[in-house]
Amino acid sequence: MSLVSCPHMPLSTVLLQLLFLLSLPLDGCTELPATGSWQTLHTQLRQIAAEKAEKYKCSIAVGIRDGRGLRWEVAAGTADFQLSRPAAADDPFVLGSITKLFTGPAALQLVDRGVWSLDQAFAPLIDGMLNNAGRPKMAAKFGEAAERITLRHVLHMTSGLPDYDTSWNKGDPWRFTQYKQAQHNFGPLEIFDRLDDKLQFEPGSMQSYCSTGYVLLGLALAQQLLGPEGAWDAYDQTSVIPAALRERGEMVATRFPIRGPCANFTPEHGYDRMGPPVRPAEPGPRDAVDVWNMSCLGGWTAGNVVAPVRDIAAWTEALFGPEALVVSPAMQEVMRNTTAPIGSGSKDFYGIAAFNLTLASGLPWPQGEAWGHLGSTYGYQSISAFFPATNATVVVASNLEIREQDQPSDVLCSAYGSLLSHLAGKPFPVCTFQKTGYFFGQCECTEMVADSEVDVLLI
Ligand SMILES: *[C@@H]1O[C@H](CO)[C@@H](O)[C@H](O)[C@H]1NC(C)=O
Ligand SMILES: *[C@@H]1O[C@H](CO)[C@@H](O)[C@H](O)[C@H]1NC(C)=O
Ligand SMILES: *[C@@H]1O[C@H](CO)[C@@H](O)[C@H](O)[C@H]1NC(C)=O
Ligand SMILES: *[C@@H]1O[C@H](CO)[C@@H](O)[C@H](O)[C@H]1NC(C)=O
Repeated sequence: MSLVSCPHMPLSTVLLQLLFLLSLPLDGCTELPATGSWQTLHTQLRQIAAEKAEKYKCSIAVGIRDGRGLRWEVAAGTADFQLSRPAAADDPFVLGSITKLFTGPAALQLVDRGVWSLDQAFAPLIDGMLNNAGRPKMAAKFGEAAERITLRHVLHMTSGLPDYDTSWNKGDPWRFTQYKQAQHNFGPLEIFDRLDDKLQFEPGSMQSYCSTGYVLLGLALAQQLLGPEGAWDAYDQTSVIPAALRERGEMVATRFPIRGPCANFTPEHGYDRMGPPVRPAEPGPRDAVDVWNMSCLGGWTAGNVVAPVRDIAAWTEALFGPEALVVSPAMQEVMRNTTAPIGSGSKDFYGIAAFNLTLASGLPWPQGEAWGHLGSTYGYQSISAFFPATNATVVVASNLEIREQDQPSDVLCSAYGSLLSHLAGKPFPVCTFQKTGYFFGQCECTEMVADSEVDVLLI
């Protein structure tokens, strides 16, 4: 477990804290204890991380920003079971699909600048680069229906492109391809080569979560910025990060690996504990497949970000928050548009590069409104969420991959419940998280008042 520093605390808070330091044993440096609470939020978060790290047998890191300039980062559990190395709050984590929070906005920045439009055809954005790389153009690969795919379809998961990275209940064939050649960096062109040659459905007629689209978006960004002759791996994924964030000292530890094992980017080993049928036998609680030495390119612009929770909290706030540092307020609204084609089975679930994470907040819509992304990749699972009602952000990362992928949401539920109590100056609640579907679960918190428990105030 690690403590946190808080460089941009307002001066008045610092002075108040100095006064309190004379009389109070403060935990970490961040904050005054909320009125009536029996411990600081920092201590509470460390306890949550420790308890969940023990429950799931992994490491857990939590990063919170309260939207008023204060932040907290804690970690607990084990980064490396072989060496019994404990997790640290500033450890970078492999964050999988949280990468879509960078790639989608990079496209929306071009829409903001009038370079691209959401309803333009997508194929011309990558055909030049495909052609230069000796690949068939979109319509040659997928048939003429591919010409009807728009940029919005790709961003909103309604393109009909076949997903290469399917979940365990769909057989998960890509996992075995990667595990068999663990060191091999599968780039976007190789992924393209291995895709099925037909669309899953007419573009715009359904919605189906699909990482392929965000891999091809990377090619579109590369073609736009480097020209059709450019090399995909010359596209700088950090170019989406506004200078304003860097000037505040944020995002300095964020990496987008394009080659080499995850071991080169983080001391956090990743543990795949998926169990059968994905793994041949159910591994024991601490036993798992350690994927730390595997290539960290993992789906490129659909899945390669490696960063500490602090960076992702800063990013998520900048992206969804009232300052609108990354994309314009109009594009923020586009991101939150979850309207999906009728009959597609998924409702109110995915906007553009954004999950509607309201159910994970412990409060009903709209008080519990939450936007962000889940990240699940070989050996690591995570979640990042922004809450408009409070302007707060919570990020949870773990070095564990399990089928239920519930440890990040479980921690988020308790952490956000605790933050709400802290902001309201109330004692901390007891929260429970229940899985209700592949992507989602429901959070419930009781509010602890003195010695008694008041029933479900936050539902
Ligand atoms: C990772 O690779 C290094 C060097 O090849 C090796 O020493 C180490 O045992 C490997 N670790 C795991 C967990 O596979
Ligand atoms: C929301 O998204 C749907 C489907 O992509 C689109 O048809 C609609 O115009 C969007 N609504 C707004 C207000 O932009
Ligand atoms: C987000 O999810 C909540 C809970 O499922 C739902 O009530 C709300 O309508 C959704 N909002 C949008 C914009 O999708
Ligand atoms: C969130 O930020 C917006 C814009 O700065 C502000 O209007 C709103 O009051 C804030 N909400 C809270 C709960 O502080």
